This record gives sequence, structure tokens and C-alpha cells, in this order.
Amino acid sequence: MTIEIKPLSHALGAEVLGADLRKPLDDAGVKSLREAFNQHIVLCIRNQDLSEDDQLRAAGYFGKVHVRRKPTNGRDPGGQWDTPFMMVTNIVENGKPIGVFGDGEMWFHHDTSYYPEPHRATLLYAMKLPSWGGNTCFSNMYRAYENIPRPLRDRLEGRKILQVHDYKRRERLDLDKIDLNSVRHFEQPIFITHPVTGRKSLYVSRLMSARIEGLSREESDAALDQLFAIAEDPAIVYEHRWELGDLVIWDNWCSIHARKDFPREEPRLMRRLTIEGQAMRF
Ligand code: SIN
Repeated sequence: MTIEIKPLSHALGAEVLGADLRKPLDDAGVKSLREAFNQHIVLCIRNQDLSEDDQLRAAGYFGKVHVRRKPTNGRDPGGQWDTPFMMVTNIVENGKPIGVFGDGEMWFHHDTSYYPEPHRATLLYAMKLPSWGGNTCFSNMYRAYENIPRPLRDRLEGRKILQVHDYKRRERLDLDKIDLNSVRHFEQPIFITHPVTGRKSLYVSRLMSARIEGLSREESDAALDQLFAIAEDPAIVYEHRWELGDLVIWDNWCSIHARKDFPREEPRLMRRLTIEGQAMRF
């Protein structure tokens, strides 16, 4: 099986052609996938018909698959526990959501930036889609870093950013209202060096980045507003329009992603796995 890689946009992203993930890939195929992933940040493999085992095997090409454990802080964000799988869906059965992230828009974020060791990658497999919307936008954080004006970059170099997950989807964090003990949070470098590629990457997002360490509230808010605008610049964004059977994998260390609105009465069902990571360094 020969794999071909076709870029999807000038910003980031590539389609993988010629892969049938129902069967194990040979070493050359795995090497091509990994190289393409490091280069293009987001990979899309279309027309897949994947069992859970197939998706697990495919995820394993990119690292160690994470098993979800219930948080110990008393808050239960929902979804499945003690399994690597999580359903991203708005489907409700017997009055209970069968997965997480519900319906509608979701602002730009990195997955698990609030963990001491943020996950490297997320794989989402499209199983049910609404008739319109629900596209996922990916933005290239290497390019965002390069686009920060020099004086701002110099002022922020070496600083940390507080990353918080309070289970909201489209609301700025309000540190006056949040009890940090009840939500997952962690201070990360504001600019990270990607552990695999060695490239510098901006590590902030509108949904989860709360405050820049060492700056006043006003200075931090002003700097974050500038960084969010740079991070969400359409020139560095690829918008993925899902088709059934798409498997998309993205690198959480050098991209952020956001979901667009879709009709709440129509089911959207995606099967999700993540790949474990490591501590982020300046
Ligand atoms: C996610 O943020 O992991 C889910 C994105 C989506 O539902 O498109």
C-alpha cells in the first residue's frame, strides 16, 4: 500500500491518500504517517470504516493511547471513564448525554493544555453528522508565534500562562468567579518548544488561557487579546468540513482548534482518542 500526502491548505493540514486503516500499516506506511504529521500538524484520512480496534491501532502509530480516568476534584465533565474512547456528541439518551461537548460552537483551544503533561494528539472519527455546520477549524501555532510583533514577543518570552478547563464551550474564563480548586488548571510556558520538531509555538487559546503570570490584570488581558487575534487569523487557519468516515488527527502542541455551530436537533457523533504527551518546556 503506497501512501500519498496531499496538502489541504496553505495554513496547515494534509490528506492521506491510499491508507486503509482496517488493516495494519507496514513500517514504511507508519513512517510516512509520522513524518507527514510532524510536517502538516493535521492529517485527514477519508472514507474509513473503523471498528474501535481499528481506531486504537491507528492511534498507536502516533504514541501511547490515553485511558480516561475520572477527575479527583469532584467535578464530572461527563463522558466515558476507564476507557480510551470518548464520544464527542450532542446525543442525549434517557435524559442523559451519552458523551461530551454537547451542541453548538466551541471556541479555539488546545486539548488538555491544563494538564501537567498535555496530550500530544487527538483523533476524531466522524460517525454521524448534521446536515450543515459543525466544521472544525485548526490554526497553526508555529505561524502564530512567528507573527507576534517582536516587542510583544520579547516582553512575554520566558513567562507562563495559566491554562484552565472549566467545562465551558464559548465563554471567557472569569477568575473572580472560578474556584481553581474545583477545576483542572496548570501554568504552562506561553511559548513552548515543540518536543519533537524543536520549533517554537504559541501556547494560548481564547477558551482556556486565563492570565499571564507576572503581569497586572489589565496588561495580561490586553496582551491576551492581541495573542488571540494573531492565533485566530484566518490566514493561518484550515477549516475542515467533515464527511462520514473521516479520521482526523491533530497535534495539540502546535495547533488550536474550534468547532462551528450546527443544528442542535440533529445528531453529531464523533469517536475520540488522545495520545499521551509530556511536560511543556520554554
Ligand atoms: C474537540 O475539541 O475535541 C472536539 C472538536 C469537534 O467537536 O469538532
